[in-house]
Amino acid sequence: MAVIRLLQLTDTHLVGDPLGEMRGVRTLETLRTVLRGAAADLEAADAVLLTGDIVHDDPDGYAWVRHELGSLAKPVLCIPGNHDDPQLLREALGEPPFRHLGHHDLGAWRIVMLDSTVPGEAAGELPATELARLEAALGPGSPSHALVVLHHQPIPVGSAGLDSVGLRNSTALQTIIAGLPTVRALIGGHVHQESEQRLGAVRVFTTPSTCMQFRPQVAGFEIDDRGPGCRVIELHPDGGLQTRVRWFD
Ligand SMILES: [Fe+2]
Repeated sequence: MAVIRLLQLTDTHLVGDPLGEMRGVRTLETLRTVLRGAAADLEAADAVLLTGDIVHDDPDGYAWVRHELGSLAKPVLCIPGNHDDPQLLREALGEPPFRHLGHHDLGAWRIVMLDSTVPGEAAGELPATELARLEAALGPGSPSHALVVLHHQPIPVGSAGLDSVGLRNSTALQTIIAGLPTVRALIGGHVHQESEQRLGAVRVFTTPSTCMQFRPQVAGFEIDDRGPGCRVIELHPDGGLQTRVRWFD
């Protein structure tokens, strides 16, 4: 079986106004910078991951996602973040190439897309229904390897401000993951910075936003001066995972 290639775009924070900004950054412009810079990675990708905060509290931003990614001949796998409206996201990005939540098999891998949003809150939580769906998706007979995708960081990244709005029921997730031997990695966004950690043998990644970044390892919320970014992921048939962040400073 072949290597599976993914391109992760996260925290695009689009709004209806094409000149709209998040903390001084024009989010449509920086998304386009990433798509241009990562054009070869996008071309080579078997699927795109859009890991939440796709819009910034403005459902008109979904039209720009369709404009920029809607003609791709590959799946664009979407989950909501805390700035999305899950119902409006489902309506706006419910048709191919977009796929909303669920799970998707690519080669020897199953990619499970989870909704960790809590209405009206920045912090995340996986409800019992999502935890049960994860368990069911990775039961006996499922593919050999799994990548689990959720917006909120499942373990602290070392920034107290951002970690105060992380995944609240991480322990419940970790308990379930411990019983799912095919899980190789967890990946998401939310913290607008690159990180890699481990939970036992499971690798845990966060990825820079396609707009503005938060400075790592600080107590509060500090804007980083780094440019937009994205992540390229290779999933190997033997369960190996190679990844790198691409920056467009
Ligand atoms: Fe975000």
